[in-house]
Amino acid sequence: MSMKVLKDATAFIDNELKKTDISIEGEKIAKIEKNLRGDEEIDCTGLIILPGAIDIHVHFRDFKESHKEDWFRGSRAAAKGGTTTVFDMVNNNPPITTYKRLMKKKKLAKKSIVNYGLYFGLGPDNLDNLEKIAPHVCGFKLHMCKTTGELLLTDPALQKKSFEAVKKTGKPIVVHAEDQKILDAAESIHKERCDYLAHADSRPRLAESRAVDHAIACAKETGAKTHLTHISTTLALTRIRKAKQRGIDLTCDTTPTYMYLTRDNLKNMGAFCKMNPPVRTKQDLESVWESIKYNIIDIISTDHAPHTIKEKENNFKTAPSGIPGVEMRLPLLLDAVNKNMLTLETLVKTCCTNPAKRFNLKGRGEIKEGNYADLVAVNMDLRKEVRREEQVTKCGWSPYEGMSLKGWPIKTFVNGNLVYNFGKLYPNQGKDLFEQPEK
Ligand code: DOR
Ligand code: ZN
Repeated sequence: MSMKVLKDATAFIDNELKKTDISIEGEKIAKIEKNLRGDEEIDCTGLIILPGAIDIHVHFRDFKESHKEDWFRGSRAAAKGGTTTVFDMVNNNPPITTYKRLMKKKKLAKKSIVNYGLYFGLGPDNLDNLEKIAPHVCGFKLHMCKTTGELLLTDPALQKKSFEAVKKTGKPIVVHAEDQKILDAAESIHKERCDYLAHADSRPRLAESRAVDHAIACAKETGAKTHLTHISTTLALTRIRKAKQRGIDLTCDTTPTYMYLTRDNLKNMGAFCKMNPPVRTKQDLESVWESIKYNIIDIISTDHAPHTIKEKENNFKTAPSGIPGVEMRLPLLLDAVNKNMLTLETLVKTCCTNPAKRFNLKGRGEIKEGNYADLVAVNMDLRKEVRREEQVTKCGWSPYEGMSLKGWPIKTFVNGNLVYNFGKLYPNQGKDLFEQPEK
């Protein structure tokens, strides 16, 4: 088998930066030591090698929405952003709530150049037979409220039943926590408004913390492995911190959205800053950063939710919610490391190690001999502006356009294959990390 060697690298290993070579044999890391020789030697002088990032929350659309995103373009955007594994959400059109649709999506996902896992959507009619689904998915998704798509389970008793059902599978239940009753009440108060803050006001912070309370109660009572996604408010984070102290099997993530954007951005960005949960206050944003620092937030995902420029330019009120993010997560966070707002250790923990641990990905999430060679080489000194023309995502825009960021992914390896190199993308067959051999 031919041997690749990453020469003269500085690699993030065991929580520190080490000068070393890394050899790759087939799909795995063979050796980590100095002075290695190989058939193909790749000069990594001046680059830092990190474990490939894992994004546990993307929407790669496809099916009837392939004009917004598909697996071909979404996975390339991920590779450009240093992400080597993505977990794809369930609110497709039609939603992934049956075994048959799940298998159909598996066929589409074969276009992916990065590794992937798929979620299964919990609905009122499919809670009885999740054991059959479990081996094929990274986790189960519970929508406690209405958002993009038709999928939802708003009845608190059924929500609890879904936790019980997922508990039996041993897989994580990933929860979009906003309380529909509070959303309905707020919506009716603000329904006549057409200004840019109307949408954010009709999805108040209390809706998130109330739903988080119920999810925590369900987690406690059922023992299900619970993960709360895209957490955005101080109040919810306080609840999560306390629940963790009580030993509940609970983790959560936030996204760069809630680290970088607030209600103040709505005025200039309009629907390009419209999402669910909505952008919050500066105080919430500060709590999010603080919670990342103190391990209350375990994971940074992206909720890459692409919609077209045309849809976003339309009437603010009817424009769909969601923003792209999969290719911008590492550039934003590397820039934050350069500004001492985040340590490299926390970046690796939240984007690589913790996602691998929580979702039980064996041999990924850290650089170790014998692990899969999912790697990203970054240049911490490269400064570049975020430009619309350079976006690989099919939706063709980024909420971070115009920002000048220092620190960018340069080379991305998936299972030992170079898939991204200095702006160029290469073909690859990403792996479904949750596929079981057919019996
Ligand atoms: O803003 C959002 N967009 N929030 C969601 O929960 C769904 C997502 C989408 O799929 O567009
Ligand atoms: Zn989402």
